[in-house]
Amino acid sequence: MKINFTKPKNDVFMVSISSKNTNEIIKEKGIKTLYLKCEEEMSLRKLFLLIRKMVVMAKGVKAEKITFNFEDFRFKGLKLNDEKLGEIIGSQLDFANYEFNIYKTKPKEGFTELKEVFILNVSKEVEKAILKGSIIAQEVNNTRTLANTPGGDMTPTILAQKAKEAVKGLSVKVTVLGEKEMEKLKMQAIVSVGRGSDEESKFIIMEYLGGPKNEKPIILVGKGVTFDAGGINLKPSSSLLGMNMDMSGGASVIHTIALASKMKLKKNIIGLVPSVENMASGKSYRPGDVIRSMSGQTIEILNTDAEGRVILADALTYAQKYNPEVVIDVATLTGAAAVALGERASAIFTNDDELAKDLEKAGEETGDYVWRLPMWEEYENEIKGSLGDWTNVHNKDSRYGGAIYGAIFLHQFIKGYKWAHIDIAPRMTSMAGENLAPGALGSPVRLLYKFIEELK
Ligand code: BES
Ligand code: MN
Ligand code: ZN
Repeated sequence: MKINFTKPKNDVFMVSISSKNTNEIIKEKGIKTLYLKCEEEMSLRKLFLLIRKMVVMAKGVKAEKITFNFEDFRFKGLKLNDEKLGEIIGSQLDFANYEFNIYKTKPKEGFTELKEVFILNVSKEVEKAILKGSIIAQEVNNTRTLANTPGGDMTPTILAQKAKEAVKGLSVKVTVLGEKEMEKLKMQAIVSVGRGSDEESKFIIMEYLGGPKNEKPIILVGKGVTFDAGGINLKPSSSLLGMNMDMSGGASVIHTIALASKMKLKKNIIGLVPSVENMASGKSYRPGDVIRSMSGQTIEILNTDAEGRVILADALTYAQKYNPEVVIDVATLTGAAAVALGERASAIFTNDDELAKDLEKAGEETGDYVWRLPMWEEYENEIKGSLGDWTNVHNKDSRYGGAIYGAIFLHQFIKGYKWAHIDIAPRMTSMAGENLAPGALGSPVRLLYKFIEELK
């Protein structure tokens, strides 16, 4: 989508915001006006929806160009400076314009999309902020495309290739380890989960060093399960669809790093993406198997469908070699997180209260909402193994607190640094009424970027 800051010449829909009119389009004397209804009391949460509504309405009438006045979005109740507002407008416009249609035959008249937006009464600083927002959204949308891609076309090998493409021409070093190299490093947890698949498992390492030489890095770890069939604990039919998106965390890490390097952030950031396909075959790891992880601790597999935490265990151990400032892992880890929160927020877990606050703030500022759940030591009791050190699910097979047990398990592989776990399963796909295309959401790229940008 092209963003202009000049007056449009022709064939443009004007957007008018009003609390009185309902959402409708009126054509009078050659001027096509799109009346966007907004509520009297504005909030940031409503603003995200309103900007996206504008795009949805425009597409609804096949408008390819729209124009609006920046000042119309300066709502009284919002305590936002113009630059922050600009960034939000830029990012929400492109976020809402996205559709995943590369597998569809192009109709004669083309796909409906907003091609150009003309934003009026903008200062030079705000222009910059709007364009920055647009770049952020493009990386969010690239994340959505990786996640939306069917499992057959998004194997660990292809994901690793996509990671390289994502940072082509940028100063990011990408290293990809295969199974042999992982075996050498004793990353048995990752290798075991991937063994049931004919596709080779990969460990993707992305290094962006934009900060001072001796500054400790921020590490982002993303779950990269390119298809989660559940393994020998095979998922029922109804749960299999959508499991191509089980690499959403990995995709968000890949494109957050791409974004950080595009924006030349003065930070050192490392991305780690363990990538496997969790399949059922004669070579699969089994319920009851005990695996020695890279950390030396053993994992007793009670359910092969709780594979995400197993591969993340080795990735979190690998992270230690960087002596990190902070580690954040992102994973579509548990359906239970969505049972707890509904689909409106990701669950966060952390050993650091300050970090919890920072993530919550970044979430509110970007619309990538998160909510903290507890991670008290007492919960460890339920993942103590009988054969091995830790079980990968609740050792009494309880249905309760599934998201928490995922986090508690991961916590066993953290040593001496600040850490947060973001369970994005609730925000894997969009909901009706969010004014977004169905399918992957690209969460939490906006949150991660904002968090890193504001980190002192
Ligand atoms: N990838 C799934 C979690 C998931 C489910 C994400 C639905 C998004 C939507 C994960 O690997 C999984 O299978 N988790 C199990 C854990 C259980 C075996 C303890 C689950 O949620 O049922
Ligand atoms: Mn699973
Ligand atoms: Zn999974």
